[in-house]
Amino acid sequence: MHRLLNPTAKNTPDDQVLKDLLFVNASQVVTCAGPARSRKGREMREAGILKNAAIAVSDGRIAMIGAAPDLMNAYSSAEVVDCRGGVLTPGLVDSHTHAVFGKPRFEEQELRAEGLDYMEIATRGGGIHASVRDFRERSEDELYDLAVPRIRELASYGTTTLEIKSGYGLSVEDELKALRVIGRLAARQPMRIIATWMGAHEIPHDYRTSHERRSAYIDLLVEQMLPQVVAQGIARFADVFCEPGVFTIDEARRILEAAREAGLGQKIHADELKPAGGAELAASLNAASADHLAAISEKGIAALAKSDTVATLLPGTMLFLGKSKQAPARALIDAGAAVALASDFNPGTSPTVNFPLMLTLGVSQLRMSLAEVLTAATVNGAAALGFAGETGQIAPGFAADLALFAIGDVRELPYWYGARLCVGSWKAGAPCHPYENVGKLNPRSPEVVPTG
Ligand code: NIG
Ligand code: FE
Repeated sequence: MHRLLNPTAKNTPDDQVLKDLLFVNASQVVTCAGPARSRKGREMREAGILKNAAIAVSDGRIAMIGAAPDLMNAYSSAEVVDCRGGVLTPGLVDSHTHAVFGKPRFEEQELRAEGLDYMEIATRGGGIHASVRDFRERSEDELYDLAVPRIRELASYGTTTLEIKSGYGLSVEDELKALRVIGRLAARQPMRIIATWMGAHEIPHDYRTSHERRSAYIDLLVEQMLPQVVAQGIARFADVFCEPGVFTIDEARRILEAAREAGLGQKIHADELKPAGGAELAASLNAASADHLAAISEKGIAALAKSDTVATLLPGTMLFLGKSKQAPARALIDAGAAVALASDFNPGTSPTVNFPLMLTLGVSQLRMSLAEVLTAATVNGAAALGFAGETGQIAPGFAADLALFAIGDVRELPYWYGARLCVGSWKAGAPCHPYENVGKLNPRSPEVVPTG
């Protein structure tokens, strides 16, 4: 039985009425509770792990955290969710993906194994160019249908908030098409989806023929694409792939300053393969995030540490590209920067839907602590999307975005690497990855005794 709070609420895809919920019997609740902003440096050391805590959800928001009997009294008519000894965390926030694309690009993996690098593959018409050719051929419906199972799979690993970039269109018409697909996903799928315009993902082949053509593409981005994206209200952020061989620092600055003037937030693919000053540019613009950073310079680290720009690290990309050098997470955090982790889910450099695997890489390769990877995947991801006041924490007033994992200790989340441990998730109190509230949780440790 449940209380009907607001019979006209239309917050969920099916227009279902939101129920009050009471989450009980979690072995641990990871709250990440604290200020509604990014956690910088040492602040990342505290993830707020509670034992014996129950959570009440009302009208899609966290209403109360406390002992189960007290909450049972206060919310006697709420629907009880028995967590059966699992671990409850804030829904994971994946703040960097390219999840709307057509065909996969598995042929490039072997080319890399033979010694071709990412930029060489791009020069031969592979890489992003291959995805662009394919993307332009496909209809909006087809792209939507391809994206749905992919993002549902992302959700099945615990992601409840997802940023998706355009950037495989690279023409006015095709970039608007990409953003419309992302908008449809946001409206119809149960996750929280945030759109980023990335017309500056690559310079299209037919604009690479001369200097004049190249600047004509930058003009097209700033003078035609951006105004239409803004007029249609279909993106929150602009992003630029700022890397030698792609967009220069000056080009990135021009595009991002125009985006800022037009009211979009800014993000940069910065210093991924070579240090080019992308992190410094991000900090000077006060961008929401600087992403990748495997090749960031000392100056870049210092600049980010002094700024409010979140350093978003994508360790899956370096793993998949076979690079031995990961972003210097330790140096960034020790210098006082806010670090987020994200999947970079895309068909070329990170075809994984498994966000918790990034936590494994965070601990095992980036030498981050458990608390640091947890804050990086929740609060700091939310801050990188301008949502730090809404999601990423289990604290009163925040959206009830939650993920439940079939483990008895949150240290198992990065430990059982590659496993799908998520058994259910909720966005604003509505099912995201549906929880089967029956049977056993199949815990992997002998200490975990399921209660149901
Ligand atoms: O973040 N670095 C540029 N963009 C993507 C790759 C996209 C692709 O290869 O399709 C990235 O890794
Ligand atoms: Fe990316």
